[in-house]
Amino acid sequence: MAHLTRRQALAGGSAALAGLAAPALIAAPARAAAASSAPRVLSITPATLPMLGPDWPETRLWTYGGSLPGPELRLPQGARLQVTARNGLDRPTTVHWHGIRLPNAMDGVPHLTQPPIAPGESFDYAFDLPDAGTYWYHPHFDSSEQVGRGLYGALIVEEDAPIRVDRELVWMLDDWRLTREGQIAEDFGNFHDASHGGRLGNTVTINGRLPGEVALRPGERLRLRLVNTANARIFALDFGKLAPVVIALDGQPVTPHEPEDGVVVLGPAMRADLVLDASLAPGARQVVRDLAYRDAFEVVTLAAGDTPLRAAPPDWDMALPPNPLPEPNMDAAERHEIVFNGGMMGGGMMGGDPNAMMAEMRQGRMWFINGKAAMGHNPEPALTFALGSTQVLAMENATAFPHPIHLHGHSFRVQTRDGQPVPHRPWQDTVLIAPRERVEIAFVADNPGDWMFHCHVLEHQEAGMKAVLRVT
Ligand code: C2O
Ligand code: CU
Repeated sequence: MAHLTRRQALAGGSAALAGLAAPALIAAPARAAAASSAPRVLSITPATLPMLGPDWPETRLWTYGGSLPGPELRLPQGARLQVTARNGLDRPTTVHWHGIRLPNAMDGVPHLTQPPIAPGESFDYAFDLPDAGTYWYHPHFDSSEQVGRGLYGALIVEEDAPIRVDRELVWMLDDWRLTREGQIAEDFGNFHDASHGGRLGNTVTINGRLPGEVALRPGERLRLRLVNTANARIFALDFGKLAPVVIALDGQPVTPHEPEDGVVVLGPAMRADLVLDASLAPGARQVVRDLAYRDAFEVVTLAAGDTPLRAAPPDWDMALPPNPLPEPNMDAAERHEIVFNGGMMGGGMMGGDPNAMMAEMRQGRMWFINGKAAMGHNPEPALTFALGSTQVLAMENATAFPHPIHLHGHSFRVQTRDGQPVPHRPWQDTVLIAPRERVEIAFVADNPGDWMFHCHVLEHQEAGMKAVLRVT
């Protein structure tokens, strides 16, 4: 959120954050072999892992492939991803490939695009990867609980001609609500989370471990791929003296630029690729802090080693090659007004009638898109777009909470915020909208099918903040 700066931090939600245990070194993510088109099996399975390090009991999780995060899928742009998802849980699930512009039948939305994968059953996913970039996969069935118990992994699509860096890191940032025993709190689906800011936790991990230190060589250039996999937590990362350059958002290349106030803001499901020059003296340390909420906290420490790699930052080009995205035709665009309301402390919803509001909320309908809270799995399409048409969604957040709004099957340009042009008009698949903010996005509806459009605060999604947009 452009407006979520250190001066406007959000209230609440960070009690005792990351205070559970002594820091542990971040494990590198399990790196899959760069198997281009080779089919692979993804087993969806409970696992008990030392997420909090040696001083704590192991944490009971649900995982892809027995690891946290799940296996990193890394393929070249244009390759075909083939995954057989095998459900070893005792309940149904699906796999959604967040941000990928894929055929509708592969989108992993239960009942809308496929039947849920029953316990013991499997489902074959196979689709081409049109865009290079940083993506991720997660269930779309009971998402709040299933993602909240650890089901997610990175999907990295590599450019043919990547930019030059010394090293690349993927950081999957997550936020957990843990008990004193280091186990996942069982209070999924509670009224307070759903009607306020979602399931905010008390422990932040990077790549499934409590973050401690990350070793850097002074002068080295990193490409840092950030993925926010949290149910509800927004991250606003301050790298201090280091000046990260944003080179991609939600996988899509953007004109390289320094973020506003030097702070990288990521709502749930959002990604950012950064170029980070480790301009640190030998032995120096740089703490990365989170400033999203009222209580700032230390996320991770970057620790420079003794042997510099180079004295000054390299002058290598940072611009990524473009992806084959269809440019919206603004002269022929159709325009739709979309208003989000509901939730607590918003006032003004349901025509301001508090009794009507409470009656809806008691039935689980807490968030509304143009007056409608969508419950169940396949709501009727809210809007229908002609294939190939340019669509502008003029969205207004009339609630008291920020919402990361996600559209499946497409990337969109973020055109304006509160009527002001957004620098670089970035391509995104999820856009964070601040309370009372108006955001306009534009895209070509070039992918036929019924596509989810929803808030990626997973508790908001389950309490009605979703719709189906049909492209036909
Ligand atoms: Cu990342 Cu509809 O989801
Ligand atoms: Cu929301």
